[in-house]
Amino acid sequence: DKILMAEQILSEFRLKKEELKEVMTRMQREMDRGLRLETHEEASVKMLPTYVCSTPEGSEVGDFLALDLGGTNFRVMLVKVVEDEEMSWKVETKNQMYSIPEDAMTGTAQMLFDYIAECMSDFLDKHHIKHRKLPLGFTFSFPVRHEDIDKGILLNWTKGFKASGAEGNNVVGLLRDAIKRRGDFEMDVVAMVNDTVATMISCYYEDRSCEVGMIVGTGCNACYMEEMRTVELVEGEEGRMCVNTEWGAFGNNGELEEFRLEYDRVVDETSINPGQQLYEKLISGKYMGELVRLVLLKLVNEDLLFNSEASELLKTRGSFETRYVSQMESDTGDRKQIYNVLSSLGVLPSELDCDIVRLVCESVSTRSAHMCGAGLAAVINLMRERRSQEALKITVGIDGSVYKLHPCFRDRFHKIVKDLTPHCDITFIQSEEGSGRGAALISAVACKMATSML
Ligand code: BG6
Ligand code: GLC
Repeated sequence: DKILMAEQILSEFRLKKEELKEVMTRMQREMDRGLRLETHEEASVKMLPTYVCSTPEGSEVGDFLALDLGGTNFRVMLVKVVEDEEMSWKVETKNQMYSIPEDAMTGTAQMLFDYIAECMSDFLDKHHIKHRKLPLGFTFSFPVRHEDIDKGILLNWTKGFKASGAEGNNVVGLLRDAIKRRGDFEMDVVAMVNDTVATMISCYYEDRSCEVGMIVGTGCNACYMEEMRTVELVEGEEGRMCVNTEWGAFGNNGELEEFRLEYDRVVDETSINPGQQLYEKLISGKYMGELVRLVLLKLVNEDLLFNSEASELLKTRGSFETRYVSQMESDTGDRKQIYNVLSSLGVLPSELDCDIVRLVCESVSTRSAHMCGAGLAAVINLMRERRSQEALKITVGIDGSVYKLHPCFRDRFHKIVKDLTPHCDITFIQSEEGSGRGAALISAVACKMATSML
């Protein structure tokens, strides 16, 4: 019957434990190549040093501004860092979201950064703080090759951004220039961090074992604390430095070919960055809905769905949003949610159609959780090896819309990570306001270091 035939087609999405172990091993190999000087250039996983180090010696207190660019929303935040008796940091935030217009994302870098400065100016007006020259922490969620914590060049855009004239340039410089061009406020940019790093830091202040940060949202990436002696791109042997893996680019050298399906190839070929971020394209929210849509079209063609006819909307690229996947899988069994989403896409489904569509969503989102779990297991097993510990106790700070909003992603993900990491005791914490708090906290540390060096 149709369900069985659909299940047959969907079985390609199911990954055996052996296959996930293989993904994990290859990921570790690529991570290792990314860390080493002689193989770094050609490695797909770039393992970028962040200049965020272990054992920060205290931090300043006071008001900080934080920017968050690269997730679903662009945000400006005012963060107050205070110290309590136990020397942990309490932070309070005010924040505002701004949407980034399409033309700012894909125009010139100057247009994008002028728009960012305009939003900052608006925010400062609203909170009556335009006269204050605040220290600023910038969460910039793209691959950056850092020279220091407040200096680094954008290697390449990901996730649908494409503003010209930014790649290869110092991102903090672009921001400072835009603020200067406006001339109506001043700002002291003290730190720039990836969103994974901001997430890790924000959780670190609650749990000192938090040495991994991860995002499963529009994009997918992770960072972790690596031994300095193995970070060959930076001099020094002592302590640990946070490394931004940029694992989204895993697969760019062909490491995932036998796992990529026809749908993955279409998603990639029709994307703004074909051939890049191939691992991320199997997992993250920017692509999940589109993958489901392509599978649905395949099933329509195989006479297994919607009376063999797709609506115009369903034939349109991007029409199936990733949040629909969550809605479908949240259906309680009466098929109401599924029916509603499908009718908003112009199809009138039978009960059987609804059940098949749900199976499609489950297949795509489960593969996402498992693929991503293999990545995290690679990181955690590597950390355990490095530390030569019999058992590793570690906390992972996580954020992102797929992790937070999908009804089953989290459980499937936790389960597979635990399966793949024997002898590790892992705690997951969901970061709240991660980027704002993380960026402010690391800026507070950076300010302290700057003043103590004077
Ligand atoms: C947010 C963080 O909560 O999650 C951002 O503040 C991060 O820094 C984002 O980029 C990732 O999730 P999404 O779903 O918005 O891409
Ligand atoms: C993309 C970016 C990466 C970011 C991730 C999550 O993979 O390249 O820097 O951390 O998305 O937002």
